Amino acid sequence: AKDPVRVLVTGAAGQIGYALVPMIARGVMLGADQPVILHMLDIPPAAEALNGVKMELVDAAFPLLKGVVATTDAVEACTGVNVAVMVGGFPRKEGMERKDVMSKNVSIYKSQASALEKHAAPNCKVLVVANPANTNALILKEFAPSIPEKNITCLTRLDHNRALGQISERLSVQVSDVKNVIIWGNHSSSQYPDVNHATVSTPAGDKPVRELVADDAWYNELETLLNGEFISTVQQRGAAIIKARKLSSALSAASSACDHIRDWVLGTPEGTFVSMGVYSDGSYNVPAGLIYSFPVTCKNGEWSIVQGLPIDEFSRKKLDLTAEELSEEKALAYSCLA
Ligand code: NAI
Repeated sequence: AKDPVRVLVTGAAGQIGYALVPMIARGVMLGADQPVILHMLDIPPAAEALNGVKMELVDAAFPLLKGVVATTDAVEACTGVNVAVMVGGFPRKEGMERKDVMSKNVSIYKSQASALEKHAAPNCKVLVVANPANTNALILKEFAPSIPEKNITCLTRLDHNRALGQISERLSVQVSDVKNVIIWGNHSSSQYPDVNHATVSTPAGDKPVRELVADDAWYNELETLLNGEFISTVQQRGAAIIKARKLSSALSAASSACDHIRDWVLGTPEGTFVSMGVYSDGSYNVPAGLIYSFPVTCKNGEWSIVQGLPIDEFSRKKLDLTAEELSEEKALAYSCLA
């Protein structure tokens, strides 16, 4: 039998945490043959609720779940973890300035970076979900210098999956037949959901989404859809969910976090790429030193950015715009540290 993997979930008493921990305990994240020990961290006001989640995990009798640590102590939570999913953070409340929210999250991610650096297992893989996700991940990277930068990522897989979902709905094809959309940049409304390289698998082989659209009698309408409505639908989907549910996305965020880690650890299927927020090395002329969402493939537990995709002029502008926003966020975050 395999040794258990220790998985940390911060903010585990929150909405995403409540959807995520049972998925992890069922093997959705790391595989149906991989035992896990869950480490759950939250803050003292949520301690009782956190304990309630722990009670439910016991009650669910998950065969793969070999232990649960539920704590408000970051050091205890981080000790020995192999995977860290950072969902806890300070939410933007009405009337708060962007800078105030940034400042709260910068201090949370700075101190949790140190706890992870000192106490996590070597080669721990980190996924930041809490917003501002890219910049929180950047702060975590800066304050955990001994964790390799390739181990620190942020979640844009939810946006990626939303883009797959939109194409599937609009072209009336199965979502499992659509692949290779790309989310570029920030997990915010400046992100660029790109369909230029996406394909749909058909009995006659993989066809570019662009070609399927071009074959369509409603070419013009769909062309508009892809460049206009498609992009804004994906960008604004989070807001649409809040409007409908009066709560932000939780089950889809949790499921996408599992997809992110699973593909990273177990690899992406041949010919398929996914979107991950990773530390930019300057690929596609994105400024180095930002956590930016790129198309990646994963193998042997490591991601690499898909190289050489042609970028048209329209896309270039979108890639640059979201990079600019991230550079501004980075500057704001640094001004909070000063
Ligand atoms: P929530 O408010 O239900 O839960 C957040 C939890 O974090 C709470 O239990 C809170 O007590 C805890 N927390 C606060 N400060 C903490 C700290 N210093 N250490 C540990 N825990 C702490 O929020 P929800 O809906 O679960 O969302 C969590 C985060 O995920 C938010 O920042 C949200 O904006 C973000 N999000 C990101 C998505 C993405 O695709 N990257 C998608 C959806 C949400």
